[in-house]
Amino acid sequence: MQFRTLGNSGLKVSVLSFGAWQLGDSAYWGSHAQDQGAETVRVALDQGITLFETAEIYGNGTSERLLGQALGPDRKRVILATKVLPQNCIPDRLRAACEASLKRLGTDYIDLYQIHWPFRQKPVLDVQGRSLEIEPNVMEACEILRTLQGEGKIRYVGLSNFGGEDLNDWFFQGTAESNQIGYNIVSRAVEYDVLPATRSHQLGVLAYMPLLQGLLAVPWKTVDDIPVARRRTRHFSSHRDGVRHGEQGFEGQLLETVTRLREFSEAIGVPMATMCLCWVLAQPGVTSAIIGAREPKQLLRNLQAGTLDLGPAAIAQLNEISGPLKLAMGRNADLWQGEQTSRIG
Ligand SMILES: NC(=O)c1ccc[n+]([C@@H]2O[C@H](COP(=O)([O-])OP(=O)(O)OC[C@H]3O[C@@H](n4cnc5c(N)ncnc54)[C@H](OP(=O)(O)O)[C@@H]3O)[C@@H](O)[C@H]2O)c1
Repeated sequence: MQFRTLGNSGLKVSVLSFGAWQLGDSAYWGSHAQDQGAETVRVALDQGITLFETAEIYGNGTSERLLGQALGPDRKRVILATKVLPQNCIPDRLRAACEASLKRLGTDYIDLYQIHWPFRQKPVLDVQGRSLEIEPNVMEACEILRTLQGEGKIRYVGLSNFGGEDLNDWFFQGTAESNQIGYNIVSRAVEYDVLPATRSHQLGVLAYMPLLQGLLAVPWKTVDDIPVARRRTRHFSSHRDGVRHGEQGFEGQLLETVTRLREFSEAIGVPMATMCLCWVLAQPGVTSAIIGAREPKQLLRNLQAGTLDLGPAAIAQLNEISGPLKLAMGRNADLWQGEQTSRIG
């Protein structure tokens, strides 16, 4: 396993991180996702993964609880990251949210406490147009985060899904060490603005959904082969269940791109999932790819990406294959919402 430094934090993290969403959200991933969760965490530890990441929202706290239990005393030798929702970043709630996460994780400190989404999302309005939520405020949130850091409850602050403007707003008041972004070889919109802005603030980059929730790992022939919850991103047509971006989608181009990627992976003799993870890790500024795994077998299959370098010629070829889809999907880095309602700016 290779290691890279996260932003300016000095924290050395493994290039593959363990995403614990699967561990606690059976509504999304299926109840079987939890069966081998503890064993999968154990294998991740044994194989040198040092960054473990979750969120208060995953399974309404179940992911944090199961991850904490699975790590047990090994918690002390890993970097533990969780995320807080923006609506919990108002003064009355932030401390309580942090303390609740600490309790569920069974620890007295969080290494990286991340703001799950930027604050400038549109407020939820009631029928009379009044905001139902008190808007979080960057200055107030940063002040409380600093206090929590002073008390040793959190070591570093991280961001998640922040675009260039969001980062500027944040850094006007506070600091952070990382930005977590949805990034994979068929979702490259972050390359236009988000990644350059993240790099210019010298933040580490944690790439989530590096396999597009597994769609780059398992062969599928038609969109109907894909579980409903995982065909809601901007790649898929608005006619599909649960899709909310209001756009036509890019299904034909996605299938064509994935087919060409698969042919290339066979030609170079590297499994498709491994190749796609290596591609993410070769992108400038990326610190670690957060991989989700339901069972040890999947994790073990993907581990080779933690040491393999595909080399510049293969990376250039992969850029070429995925380039037309990148161009077609444009600059909107929100994987689920359309241009007009994008939450990342
Ligand atoms: N900040 C955010 O807003 C945000 C958003 C999403 C995710 N995240 C974080 O990022 C983590 C990773 O995202 P993700 O879970 O979508 O990552 P991913 O690595 O793109 O997808 C994980 C899924 O891919 C499948 N898979 C992985 N390796 C495989 C293999 N070798 N063979 C076959 N299938 C394989 C499994 O699906 P099956 O379950 O079908 O087997 C697994 O559950 C999450 O756990 C979460 O911590 C953050």
